[in-house]
Amino acid sequence: MSSGQNIVMGVSGGIAAYKAVEVVSRLKKAGCNVNVIMTKAAAEFVTPLTFRELSGNPVVTDMWEEPKTWNVQHIALANWADVFLVAPATANIIGKIANGIADDMLTTTIMATKAPVVLAPAMNTNMYLNPVTQQNLTKLAGLSYHIIEPATGLLACGVEGPGRLPEPVVIVDKVVALLHNCQDLRGQRILITAAGTREAIDPVRYIGNRSSGKMGYALAGVAARRGAEVILVSGPTSLPAPPGVTITRVETAAQMQAAVLAEFDTVDIVIKAAAVADYRPEQVAEQKIKKTGDTLTINLIKNPDILLELGQRKKRQILVGFAAETKDLIIHAREKLTKKNLDMIIANDVTLPGAGFNIDTNIVKIIHKNGNVEELPQLSKQQVAEIMIDKISTLLTKST
Ligand code: PMT
Repeated sequence: MSSGQNIVMGVSGGIAAYKAVEVVSRLKKAGCNVNVIMTKAAAEFVTPLTFRELSGNPVVTDMWEEPKTWNVQHIALANWADVFLVAPATANIIGKIANGIADDMLTTTIMATKAPVVLAPAMNTNMYLNPVTQQNLTKLAGLSYHIIEPATGLLACGVEGPGRLPEPVVIVDKVVALLHNCQDLRGQRILITAAGTREAIDPVRYIGNRSSGKMGYALAGVAARRGAEVILVSGPTSLPAPPGVTITRVETAAQMQAAVLAEFDTVDIVIKAAAVADYRPEQVAEQKIKKTGDTLTINLIKNPDILLELGQRKKRQILVGFAAETKDLIIHAREKLTKKNLDMIIANDVTLPGAGFNIDTNIVKIIHKNGNVEELPQLSKQQVAEIMIDKISTLLTKST
């Protein structure tokens, strides 16, 4: 939550202005105070009334209209903002900001603010890729403006490519992270597991799974950037360790169990993103098994359930698990949440395109201990990680 913090939200004139409505609604739900400034073009797409109702504040569209109270309005809003967000930011508004043009209420207020400014560009792909727009964005990034990369997909103009307004949840997440100055995990020790385990059959073969480690490594990177001391216990993967993270590499479930238990008492938070083998071969052949008959039987025995054990031992730690399911996602995830004594579980249906193993995106549902379920759209694993860390940060605030 970001109670009482002030967001000035600029809405410029693109078709994505309708999505800005959800951004305001989510900012309000996150506890922020919101004032909206619309350009004249934006007011052609969505009425100021919609934003007034959602924000609970008058919407400014015109520099020259009679002010409701006596103050210099663009200066008042510029000073009031803790974060200044422009969503959608059109090529036109980006061009104006980059070149110091202040010819309407929005650009004038941006020029006057000292708050961090976040721009969420949304426009036709060719406009976005136009070297002029790209130069403007590079210039603004160099001047410490925060640019949220647009999403790629089918745009309103029928073209497919980059230029879609990022999902509202991603925009709000960026704003909330800025409000927390991105160091909300400072002083916290966090243990994250990632990638799959491998259970040897013989010296050359193993039982494994499709986990690449991308989800867990994204979490480790985000947690470290936000100030946590991160211990990453990782199964085999070719991913490089994120900067600032202490890594312990393991291969089997038993090794992962030992590495996790060795740290458990010293950590504040555990996130178990690893895909741990539930069974292992009862015997590991000393030599490579030779091809003999038409069938081969390997007896499997149960591996320890590491997260279950942590749930039984937990005292003060926040425990977050994942559930990788192929059907009845919520039912199975809820069972795991309860059985393993978790504070939160991240459920992913690994059969969905865009979700699960060995890709850069995921589609998850966050299930809280109180039963609440939050559904996220398809996002990059990086964005899922940011949102998960936000939720954990909120749990930490509540527990202090
Ligand atoms: O690594 P990627 O390619 O990016 O893919 C990401 C992912 C799909 C692996 C990730 O999003 C995910 O779902 N991780 C959990 C996979 C899993 O093993 O889920 P599960 O439903 O079988 O296990 C439930 C929870 O118990 C998990 O937190 C798991 O780490 C833990 N567990 C499971 C078995 C076991 N023996 N010990 C455990 O600790």
